Amino acid sequence: MFDEEKQYETLEIDGINYANVARSKDIVEGKGYQFIFQEDYDLQIAVIRFESKLYCFHNICPHRHADRIHEGIIDKKNKTLTCPLHGWTYTLDTGENTNKHQGIKHLVKFSIFEEDGLVWAEIPSDQLIPAWRKNPI
Ligand code: FES
Repeated sequence: MFDEEKQYETLEIDGINYANVARSKDIVEGKGYQFIFQEDYDLQIAVIRFESKLYCFHNICPHRHADRIHEGIIDKKNKTLTCPLHGWTYTLDTGENTNKHQGIKHLVKFSIFEEDGLVWAEIPSDQLIPAWRKNPI
């Protein structure tokens, strides 16, 4: 599913830009998928289907900025997603960090919807690119 150079079909709804990232049938229950835009490490998303519903998050964990959220572990009872690297845990509904002792940074959540058998995910804004990378010395 991960294809760095893929060109996505896009559309705009209410000022939000969406990309057709997959067919609905290809996003299966309980599994996460990674999609990257403009070949930029910071512009990638994790798409997860849980209890038939789709969730879309920034794929970069705010702990150590690893692109592993798509490999997160879902806790079905608490409806949370845990980063596989060091265990930071976020709510599926909001992306909020569930353990303030680990830190207060939350997971950025994006809009996502399905229509006519296709999955449309919000394209991450370049505001997610750290300032130090935008203005190299
Ligand atoms: S990088 Fe995700 S918990 Fe450390």
